[in-house]
Amino acid sequence: MYTQLHSDVTAAPLGLPGLAKLKQQGEKIACLTAYDASFAALLDAAGVDVVLVGDTLGMVIQGRSSTLPVTVDDMVYHTCAVARGLRRAFLIADMPFNAYSDKQRALDNAARLLAEGGASMVKLEGSANQAEIVAHLAGQGVPVCSHLGLRPQHVNKLGGFKVQGREQAAAKQMIADAKTLEAAGADLLLLECVPRELARDLTNEVSVPVIGIGAGPDVDGQILVLYDMLDITPGKKPRFAKNYMADGGSLLDAVKRYVAEVKSGAYPQPEHGFE
Ligand code: KIV
Repeated sequence: MYTQLHSDVTAAPLGLPGLAKLKQQGEKIACLTAYDASFAALLDAAGVDVVLVGDTLGMVIQGRSSTLPVTVDDMVYHTCAVARGLRRAFLIADMPFNAYSDKQRALDNAARLLAEGGASMVKLEGSANQAEIVAHLAGQGVPVCSHLGLRPQHVNKLGGFKVQGREQAAAKQMIADAKTLEAAGADLLLLECVPRELARDLTNEVSVPVIGIGAGPDVDGQILVLYDMLDITPGKKPRFAKNYMADGGSLLDAVKRYVAEVKSGAYPQPEHGFE
């Protein structure tokens, strides 16, 4: 385990104000997923700002073909492990499929991820029709990230993992949804697989930080699935997944290169996004 990497044990946890400050200062927010304590400690040591325990664990850890079978118990287990590895990075945990179908269910499950798991925020895949649930969570002191664009929990409705918001009406709707969710209390937005222009316009319309994955460079931060950027995921990778092991070196070097490229704007390049 990489506990010896915690040389800067006094680093203060970033917290929500820390994330807001990065946005204000125009410093890009470097985010990655993690699912265990060893990788969490390595990411923290490399200077990653936000660590997400994504329900992608269903695919990259459990070997499933979608995120749908992931349970709240799975999420609590992995969130606990990741929390033990972090000192500074801000920890977000995904609410899995069917864990937030109504306000009480959402609050009960979010409370588990915060109280048992040690997360500082929960992420919900959503649109404006979740505003009431977001408001309920926010009102009870639960920080919320709303995930817009490609929402993998909706894969059966979408007919596959496809770019979202290409048509003008859909783009306008996504921006309206983002504003509604922010007004309801979302503290962070995550945008997956949308055209660059839409991501830029949406980011300009809200005050909270916007993190992108396959959303181009004009957002406040970037996130990738750890196993994609370390080239562990077998088979075809998504277009936006740059392989940071391609130049060799250690895992820590690779994650540091990713953080440096997000901060400098060298990642993402046009070939990692959608027009
Ligand atoms: O579950 C996950 O890992 C995610 C990322 C793709 C952002 O939501």
